[in-house]
Amino acid sequence: MKFIIEKDYASMSRVAANILLGEMYRDRRVNLAITAGSTPVKMYEYLVEDVKGKDYLTNVHYYNFDEIPVIGENGYGVTMGNLDKLYFSPAAISAEQIHVLDENNYLQQDERIKDDGGLDLILLGIGADGHYCGNLPGTTKFENMTSQVSVDATPGMRDILIEEVGGDASKCPDYYVTMGPASVMQSKRILLFATGAKKAAIIRQAFFGPVTNDVPSSLLQTHPNITILLDEAAAAEIQDLL
Ligand code: GLP
Repeated sequence: MKFIIEKDYASMSRVAANILLGEMYRDRRVNLAITAGSTPVKMYEYLVEDVKGKDYLTNVHYYNFDEIPVIGENGYGVTMGNLDKLYFSPAAISAEQIHVLDENNYLQQDERIKDDGGLDLILLGIGADGHYCGNLPGTTKFENMTSQVSVDATPGMRDILIEEVGGDASKCPDYYVTMGPASVMQSKRILLFATGAKKAAIIRQAFFGPVTNDVPSSLLQTHPNITILLDEAAAAEIQDLL
């Protein structure tokens, strides 16, 4: 595991963008799975400026790794809608470069990525409960590939999904789809990033505690090429271990 600790959210975001750019500038097709959520907002601001208008970066192909099938204004589900707003639209990424995972094609996701040459990098955020993608404690297991997860998978799931769809309980879907732990581990490289004190405890547990399904992200410790990028606040509880 390689740890990079940056002073604050802005410099962490700059480094995250730099790492993605390093992959993008390869002289061949590059496959990236990228995250939505609040952590990447600043990184996408940087990337939009770095990528927009560069025709030579059409070698980069993008994949979303989870989706909540509630269609928003832009015609996408929650995750893709977010990625579209933060990055694809402002950076003018062409449709041929965007490979949508949704409730209709999730059973083909792993095979499709394999046929495309595999993921070069997957960019992950982490929840305070240790989840990444849609792999929450008590939902998927380490051996799962891309699958559908029911709203009844765990007791708190309905509330989480209601929040994800903007707080309206009538819009809560019956399920979501996500790349599973085994799918994520097939990526050649993992970049996981976190910001703020509310992530400090889980960073210690996930990367210095036991590998257990109770903390889904603990599996990522065993990946041969993982970079964990943090700001100082998120790294506060591991400084003595590095
Ligand atoms: C959602 C996403 C996850 C993401 C997590 C953390 O659950 N599906 O992929 O890692 O949020 O989000 P944030 O960056 O807002 O803390």
